[in-house]
Amino acid sequence: MAIKRIGIILNGVTGRMGTNQHLHRSIVAIMKQGGVKISDDLTLMPDPILTGRSASKLQALSDRFSAEAGAKLPISTDLDACLADPKYEIFFDASGTLQRAGFIEKAVKAKKAIYCEKPTAVTTSEAIRLAGVCEQGGVKNGVVQDKLWLPGLRKFQMLKDQGFFGRILSVRGEFGYWVFEGTGFDLPAQRPSWNYRAEDGGGMIIDMHCHWRYVIDNLFGNVKAVSCLAATHIDERVDESGKRYKCTADDSAYATFMLDNGIVCHFNSSWNVRVRRDDLLTLQVDGTKGSAVVGLRKCWIQHAGSTPKPVWNPDIDQPINFNAGWQEVPDNLPYDNAFKIQWEMFLKHVALDAPFRWTLREGAKGVQLAELSLQSHRERRWVDVPAL
Ligand SMILES: NC(=O)c1ccc[n+]([C@@H]2O[C@H](COP(=O)([O-])OP(=O)(O)OC[C@H]3O[C@@H](n4cnc5c(N)ncnc54)[C@H](O)[C@@H]3O)[C@@H](O)[C@H]2O)c1
Repeated sequence: MAIKRIGIILNGVTGRMGTNQHLHRSIVAIMKQGGVKISDDLTLMPDPILTGRSASKLQALSDRFSAEAGAKLPISTDLDACLADPKYEIFFDASGTLQRAGFIEKAVKAKKAIYCEKPTAVTTSEAIRLAGVCEQGGVKNGVVQDKLWLPGLRKFQMLKDQGFFGRILSVRGEFGYWVFEGTGFDLPAQRPSWNYRAEDGGGMIIDMHCHWRYVIDNLFGNVKAVSCLAATHIDERVDESGKRYKCTADDSAYATFMLDNGIVCHFNSSWNVRVRRDDLLTLQVDGTKGSAVVGLRKCWIQHAGSTPKPVWNPDIDQPINFNAGWQEVPDNLPYDNAFKIQWEMFLKHVALDAPFRWTLREGAKGVQLAELSLQSHRERRWVDVPAL
């Protein structure tokens, strides 16, 4: 049995996404399971180094996860030296959105394969430029599009492939939850403060419309136009150091997307909404033959044949228990972490040339939808989404 080690620079890994989803639940989890088994003769094994600006934070991460990974996780604050080391084939970035371009350019010059968090940039022109930098540099590249591998969305895809929905008419996406402002006693905010400052790359639309773009493109059809209303409902919050700051980015977006196959997708995204639904993200999909409510992990369905027939009468309590008329799709498979699944695919792409279509060019489509959504809001009109 040959073990092919793949050197990976994990940059910006002390942050929320870097630590939880990429280091712990992806790379460490892959190491812990003994690598990615390709065949009886070959296994791919990540060989990571943690890079960033703070040696003490990186060391704390290494101390926390080395035992679980089954190997000491090295650290470095000297990114240039790591990039110069041919042992490392992949450069991964989960640092701040505005830092990403500089890191990617350096890593492409060093001929590393590029994998990074979304969004790749905050403007379409910059996202396309970065895709071009990777392509001209001749390096393999990919962007995180994790939601595609969530169990709920995979169950939806299976039902769609089975023809469960008939003709899909519309999709209602409800995303969000209450993000604490940080003002209450002992109630710190649960998301980093940069998300609420446009000048630091924050904002609901640039964050979430990137996700909605690849979810819609992959599950429902091509987006051809957007109408969007953005809002900054809460204009002051408290940051990580207890200081008040002005919120300069949109914290909610009410957007309608028209697809070229006629499906209407409406997504409400908000960090100022209290949850009374099945999950933090739900997509209600209505088709002529059946409907689904898709959560992150679960999916509930109602067939045309079991659809109740309500009659409008506000003078009596509702006699139908609507929730009871839905069936949960069973977990017929073990579902792994969505980020880890995409990591394993990227490792196979780099080591074995396996296909991988979630490139920086694909990621740029998400940035495009975000930018055009903001334009629609500013100009108070529908905006066409040209093919990229
Ligand atoms: N795929 C998803 O679902 C998802 C979810 C949330 C965030 N994100 C994206 O992930 C990225 C990080 O978000 P987060 O929520 O983890 O933020 P975060 O603030 O928790 O983490 C950012 C990290 O980058 C580091 N960093 C900043 N500047 C740096 C520099 N110059 N050099 C090295 N490190 C630097 C910070 O120290 C921190 O560790 C963002 O681009 C965000 O859009 C993706």
